[in-house]
Amino acid sequence: MTGTVYLVGAGPGAADLLTLRAARLLERADVLFHDALVSREVLALASRAAKVEVGKRSGKLSTAQHFINKRLVDAARKHEVVVRLKGGDPLLFGRAHEEMAFLKENGIAFEIVPGVTAALAAAAELRTSLTRRGLSRSVAFLTTRAAPGEAPNDWLRTAVAADTVAIYMGAGEADSIRRDLLAAGKPAATPVAVVENASLPEASFDFGTLDRLPEIAARGSGGPSLILLGEVFADAAIIRAWPSARSSSLPTAPVIPIGRGRSGALR
Ligand SMILES: C[S@@+](CC[C@H](N)C(=O)[O-])C[C@H]1O[C@@H](n2cnc3c(N)ncnc32)[C@H](O)[C@@H]1O
Repeated sequence: MTGTVYLVGAGPGAADLLTLRAARLLERADVLFHDALVSREVLALASRAAKVEVGKRSGKLSTAQHFINKRLVDAARKHEVVVRLKGGDPLLFGRAHEEMAFLKENGIAFEIVPGVTAALAAAAELRTSLTRRGLSRSVAFLTTRAAPGEAPNDWLRTAVAADTVAIYMGAGEADSIRRDLLAAGKPAATPVAVVENASLPEASFDFGTLDRLPEIAARGSGGPSLILLGEVFADAAIIRAWPSARSSSLPTAPVIPIGRGRSGALR
């Protein structure tokens, strides 16, 4: 038997930002490979699956990519539904291409289930539109990182050209990001927001301008965080103060098992 591998987006952290399709697949999963940041509530949906953590968390040990690729193929040769759950969206900064290429090479069927990427969760956290008529017509999702041996990362040109920029995995490099952006001509007064743990009850955010980026980024507590840049964030602090139910106090929809009706029959 050869099963299918589903590369599934887990979203930014809050369990109720998982898509319905993802929740349904988790319920059907025989084996689940997941990253370290996936919440227990989401993992609980995969009640019948054998769970394998193949965590990748900066600063901590991670499972080698070639080993993950091999485990996915082995699992698909034994099981019908293999889920590879990845934080945010699987096709953004998730090394999905390497997994898909290996699956294809080995004749394993695969499908993608998109998820809410961190930048969109961060924008929601700030209640700030990433695009705005007359102010921002382009949004860049980028990382400044490049693995050893990779071609140089030409992120700077993109960051200067885009109206709104979301920098993934950048908080630890705030000093050099600031320096490089200023040297490339981005104005020191460009509004900046740093959002940590977007979508989670412990979410935090801070605002300022590009010249103060390192001190703003340093105020985080070490959770996953995004650097956001652009004029749309000029009034993010004010918008945050608009009255609303704080997202953590909203009644979060319980993640209900969907796969079975009252009779227990699969829907
Ligand atoms: C390896 S990338 C994976 C991105 C993921 N595929 C996505 O679409 O969001 C991990 C980075 O995403 C960002 N990130 C992930 N979850 C986040 C969250 N809840 N809040 C803020 N940033 C987050 C951080 O920059 C983190 O270093």
